[in-house]
Amino acid sequence: MKYIVTGTSSGLGFEIAKRLVDLGSVIGLSRTIGKASILLEKKNFEWFCIDFSSPFEQISPVIESSLMPVLSSEEYTLVINAAQFYLGESRLTSLETQQLFQTNLFSVMSLVNRMIGPKLKRVLFINSISGLIGQSGQHEYSASKHALKGFSSSLAKQAKDMHFDVMSVNPGGIRTELWDGNAKIATDDFIEPDNLADILVSLLKVKQRIFVDSFVILPPSDV
Ligand SMILES: NC(=O)c1ccc[n+]([C@@H]2O[C@H](COP(=O)([O-])OP(=O)(O)OC[C@H]3O[C@@H](n4cnc5c(N)ncnc54)[C@H](OP(=O)(O)O)[C@@H]3O)[C@@H](O)[C@H]2O)c1
Repeated sequence: MKYIVTGTSSGLGFEIAKRLVDLGSVIGLSRTIGKASILLEKKNFEWFCIDFSSPFEQISPVIESSLMPVLSSEEYTLVINAAQFYLGESRLTSLETQQLFQTNLFSVMSLVNRMIGPKLKRVLFINSISGLIGQSGQHEYSASKHALKGFSSSLAKQAKDMHFDVMSVNPGGIRTELWDGNAKIATDDFIEPDNLADILVSLLKVKQRIFVDSFVILPPSDV
C-alpha cells in the first residue's frame, strides 16, 4: 500500500508518516520538510514540496508529475492532515480567510477529486472538534473544518458504491506545534500526537470497506 500524507513536516502528520513507513511506502506533502527529514533516510519515504494555500492550478503540475505516475501502479490511501489554524480576537481579512479556506478545504477537495481512481482504497480526513462545534476565536478555522465535514460526508456517499472508503476523525486538543505562538492556551492535558497516531494507524489497518464518520477523540479539557 502507498500512503499519501499531507502535512508531514510536524505534529500529527509526522507521527502518522513515521508509523506508516513500517506498513508500506509513504509520500509526504508539505511546504517544508521539517521533522520528516529523518524519514528521508528510509527508502520507502518520498517528500514533495507543496503549498496548499496556492490555487490548485498552480500546484497541479507538482501533483501530476510526482503523485500521478506512482499511483497508476499501486493501491493507495490518502491521509488529509495538513491545515492552517487560526485563533485570535481579531478576524482575518478576506484574503487571509481565502488562503485558510484554500489550504483547509479547496485544495483538499481538488486533491481528493483528482486522486479518485481504481487504485484509491481509503481517504482518512483529520478534521477537528472545531468541525462539529463552534470555538471561541476560531471562526474561520472552525468554518473551514465544518465545510470539510460536508465534503467528507458527501464523498462517503459517493464511495459507498465504489471501491474505496472514507474515514473522518474529529480530535480535540492535540499537543503539537499548531499551538506554538498561542501561549495563552494550556495544552498540558492535550492528546499526545504519538498516542493519537497509534489510534489512527490502527484505523488505517482496518480491513477495507469500513466507513468511519465523525470519530470524536477528546482530552479531558474538551469533554
Ligand atoms: N493540534 C490540535 O490541537 C488539533 C486539534 C484538532 C485537529 N487538529 C488537526 O490535526 C491536523 C494536524 O495538525 P497538527 O496539530 O499536527 O498541526 P501542525 O503541527 O501545525 O502541522 C500542520 C501541518 O500542515 C502543514 N501545512 C500547513 N499549511 C500548509 C500549506 N499551506 N501547504 C502545505 N502544507 C501545509 C504543515 O507543514 P508546513 O508548515 O511545512 O507546510 C504541517 O506539516 C490538522 O488538520 C489540524 O486541523 C489539530
